[in-house]
Amino acid sequence: MAMGMGVVMMVAMASMLVESAQAQNGMVFAHYLIYQPVDISIYKQEIQLAQSKGIEAFALNTNVWRKNLADQMYQAAQELGSNFYLFFSADCHTDTDGTQLSISDIVAMIQTYSNHPNQLKYQGKQFFSAWLGDDDAWWQGKGQADAPTGWQTVFSQAGGRDNIFFVPFFSSADGSSVGNVDNVLNKFESVVDGLYAWDTSAWPCYSSPYTNPTDSRDLNFMTSSSSHGKVYMASVSPWFYNPYIGCSSVKCDYQGPNLWIQRWKQIITDQPPLVEIVTWNDWVESSYVSPQFSASGAAYNVTSFPHRAFLELGQHYINWYKAGGGSEPTPNGDSLYMFYYTNPAADGGCSILNSDQVFVVAMVASDAVIFVQSGSNSNTCNASAGVTVCSVNFSAGSQVATLTRNGVDVIPGGVTGAAAMGSTPNNYNVYSNCNNCQQ
Ligand SMILES: *[C@@H]1O[C@H](CO)[C@@H](O)[C@H](O)[C@H]1NC(C)=O
Ligand SMILES: *[C@@H]1O[C@H](CO)[C@@H](O)[C@H](O)[C@H]1NC(C)=O
Ligand SMILES: *[C@@H]1O[C@H](CO)[C@@H](O)[C@H](O)[C@H]1NC(C)=O
Repeated sequence: MAMGMGVVMMVAMASMLVESAQAQNGMVFAHYLIYQPVDISIYKQEIQLAQSKGIEAFALNTNVWRKNLADQMYQAAQELGSNFYLFFSADCHTDTDGTQLSISDIVAMIQTYSNHPNQLKYQGKQFFSAWLGDDDAWWQGKGQADAPTGWQTVFSQAGGRDNIFFVPFFSSADGSSVGNVDNVLNKFESVVDGLYAWDTSAWPCYSSPYTNPTDSRDLNFMTSSSSHGKVYMASVSPWFYNPYIGCSSVKCDYQGPNLWIQRWKQIITDQPPLVEIVTWNDWVESSYVSPQFSASGAAYNVTSFPHRAFLELGQHYINWYKAGGGSEPTPNGDSLYMFYYTNPAADGGCSILNSDQVFVVAMVASDAVIFVQSGSNSNTCNASAGVTVCSVNFSAGSQVATLTRNGVDVIPGGVTGAAAMGSTPNNYNVYSNCNNCQQ
C-alpha cells in the first residue's frame, strides 16, 4: 500500500473527476458495513485503497447508530486530506432480537456530519441513503402514519428536506416493470430524490437453469426515474454467496460466472447516474471486494477466500464507466486474474451451468496467450488487446494460469490458486487471485 508517485497522481486525478462528476454524474460508491471498532489507521488504509481504484465514497451502512465508529471514519477521511466522501445508508431492517434504528438515530446520522468536509454532497445537498424503510408497519411502530410520513418526520427534525438528497433502496421497487417503479416513486414522490436497487440485477436470483444477469430491471428503473425527475443508483456485485438465506430452498443462489464483468459492461452501456458496489466488506454474505483489513472477517474464512482480484479488475471498468462508455480503453499493461469455487455446484444441491470451472481473466495491452491448468485439465486461449476470459472444467490438484507473448512469460510465475478443491464443502464463497493481488 505504498503511496508512490503514481498513486498520488491517481488520487489527484480522482479528485478532479469527483469535481466534474458532481456536475455530470457518473460516480462510484461502495457499500461499507460498520461492524466493530478498528484503529483509525485501518480506515485510512481502506479509504486509500478504495480511492486508488476510482471509488469516490463509502455508503456507511448500519442498523445500530455507531457514532464512535462513524466519527472515526469521517476523521480518517479528513486527516488524509483526501477528496474521499462518506454518506450514511440507514439500515431499516429489524434484527431477530428486535434491534432497529430509532427516528432520533436516523436524524443523528444526518445531522452529525451535515457540515463535515468529507460528507458527500450531490447537487449541493447532503447525500443520504437507506436500506429498506419503505414498510409502513415499521414506521407505524414508531408512531408514524406510514413510511412517507416517517421520512418526512426524519427530514424535518434533521434540518429540512431541502438540504437532503435521498436515494434509498426500497425493496417494494424491484424493477420488474416500469409500472412497479412508478408505483413506489408515486408513493414516495415527496421524500426521495432517486432510488437505489440493491440486488435487483446485480445478483441474478435463480434456480436452474442459470441465466445471465440482465439489465432489464436497471432500464425500468432508469425509465421511471427520469420520468419522475429522479436519479437511479445501480448496483454491481461480485459473485455472492449467503449461507443463511436463499432465493429458494437451495443456499447456493446468486452465483454467476463472469458476473462482475457482465454487470460492469451493462452499467457502462446504460450509464446510470450513480453506481454502488455491493459490497466493500460484507464478509457474511461473501460479497466483499476489499481485502480483510481487520479481524472482523475471520469467522467467515475471508482470509482463505480473498476477493482482491475483483477490486483490481474492477478498476478498468470503473474508469470506463466514468469515461462515459464508448469504446473500451486499452489496458496500459498486462494483468491476470483467477476465480473459482472450491466445490462442485451439485454438492450444494445446485445444478448451475458452467460454474464448475476455473475462470481466468487476462487484461492485456496487445496479443498474448492464456494457459490455464486445473489439476489434469487445461485450456489455451488467445487474448487480444482488452479483456479475455478463458475457462476450464475444474479438477483437484494445482490451479495455475500463465500469460505468454511470443513464447515469453509476461507475468513471471503466472497466477496460482491457493484454495484446494473440495476444501470447504458447502461453502460457495469464491476464491480469487491475481498478479497484483499481494500488494
Ligand atoms: C490462436 O492463434 C494462433 C495463431 O494465430 C492460431 O494458430 C490458433 O488456432 C489460435 N487458437 C485458438 C484457440 O483460437
Ligand atoms: C466440462 O464439464 C461439462 C459438465 O460436466 C461437460 O459436459 C463437458 O464435456 C466438459 N468439458 C470438457 C472439455 O471436458
Ligand atoms: C478455510 O478455507 C481453507 C481453504 O479452503 C480451508 O482449508 C479451511 O479449512 C477453512 N476453514 C474453515 C474454518 O472453514
